[in-house]
Amino acid sequence: MAFVEWSEELSVGITQVDQEHQKLVAIVNQLDEAMISGKGTRIMNEILTQLVEYTKIHFTAEEALMAEAEYPGLDLHKQQHRQLVRKVEKFHSDFNNSGRRITRKMMDFLKYWLSNHILVDDMAFGKYRVECPT
Ligand SMILES: [Fe+2]
Ligand SMILES: [Fe+2]
Repeated sequence: MAFVEWSEELSVGITQVDQEHQKLVAIVNQLDEAMISGKGTRIMNEILTQLVEYTKIHFTAEEALMAEAEYPGLDLHKQQHRQLVRKVEKFHSDFNNSGRRITRKMMDFLKYWLSNHILVDDMAFGKYRVECPT
């Protein structure tokens, strides 16, 4: 079973955003699989680099959609994104500074980080788009 299961519950109703979220979920699942199967630290490091990079790509794209829709929550959402980027970067540096080990606690943090932001903050934007289409 995948570590984070994609379900309709996670859909914010915007195809592009959902596809990008699915890709983030896939990267987190890849990391979990790599951890379980005892993959080498080089591979784990590569997946983490990908996670940090793709997170930034997704956040930039999502903020552009919000700006386009004149979403009133944009400034706050940008702050949340910046915090999340800092957290995932710290996750990556902790990995490199701790003998390159990933613990279950670190994975649980990532799972929470991803699903909570989608379910609460991105969902609010999805609802706004439906209610106030531009
Ligand atoms: Fe977001
Ligand atoms: Fe998002």
